[in-house]
Amino acid sequence: MIEIGSAKVGFIGVGNMGEALLVALIKAGADTSKISFAVRRPERRAELVARYGITPATIEELAATSEVLMIIVKPQDVAPILSQVAPLLNPDALVISFLAGKKIATFEEALGQVAVARVMPNTPTLLGVGMSILSCNALVRDDQREFVTGFLRAAGKSVEVAEELQDAATATSGSGPAYFFAFVEAMVSGAVAMGISEEMATTLVVQTIVGAAKMLDESGKSATVLRENVTSPKGVTYEGLKIFNEGDLPGLVAKAMKAAADRSRDMA
Ligand SMILES: NC(=O)c1ccc[n+]([C@@H]2O[C@H](COP(=O)([O-])OP(=O)(O)OC[C@H]3O[C@@H](n4cnc5c(N)ncnc54)[C@H](OP(=O)(O)O)[C@@H]3O)[C@@H](O)[C@H]2O)c1
Repeated sequence: MIEIGSAKVGFIGVGNMGEALLVALIKAGADTSKISFAVRRPERRAELVARYGITPATIEELAATSEVLMIIVKPQDVAPILSQVAPLLNPDALVISFLAGKKIATFEEALGQVAVARVMPNTPTLLGVGMSILSCNALVRDDQREFVTGFLRAAGKSVEVAEELQDAATATSGSGPAYFFAFVEAMVSGAVAMGISEEMATTLVVQTIVGAAKMLDESGKSATVLRENVTSPKGVTYEGLKIFNEGDLPGLVAKAMKAAADRSRDMA
């Protein structure tokens, strides 16, 4: 039985995403004296020790002693790491992969019969407002699942999906921030084309998307209801949205998401 406050946790890789997840784990109540980690660069190792009071270790030590082993390296770096982990891995450990595109089967093939969770976080996780997609193999126990969802809550929200839906979910929340950034770019260009300075257009659009996101998150109303509430028949917004419909915005977005999901599947 593992709990966030007392589990021995090993991190293999503490880069951009690893550090965000480490911060979330500490925020969720982990005991830093029970957290060990491995990175490659000595200066990064020293920085993490100074900043969080966590303990450096070798990959072999992490494999043998961790109750939860988090793997947060780039996908191309994982194969030799799994070869180092496999002979020593604590058989009761929960292995959590945060690697984009890597299937649970990759870990099972390398590590044998062990509990594996696969998590796809998105970039707002770096600010504690992420959306993570979780899939687990059949060996993940209830207390291990609670560990994962409990600490992901400190990094934003999480949902569990069957692994077959990871590509579709990745194309939704994983790529989603970039879709919204692209929409902001397009709106800024549209405002500039009508004579507004780029600086002012950026302020108008960014504050508008932040406000709209807050309304979606906090009003309890659907996007459809909120859109209808600001669209009077034949009014200003109505004329703008009519152009979206004529250009089949929903069809275009669905096509983009399908292409992203197909690419995610190809990369596995
Ligand atoms: N960043 C994101 O927004 C994001 C979003 C979704 C998913 N992800 C996933 O998160 C994973 C990590 O991404 P990242 O952006 O955090 O990458 P990153 O900043 O490059 O961090 C990679 C970390 O892995 C360490 N590492 C690599 N090989 C190692 C080895 N053999 N032994 C020990 N440590 C090793 C690196 O150590 P050194 O720095 O010392 O070399 C570094 O701490 C990726 O698989 C990515 O798909 C990231």
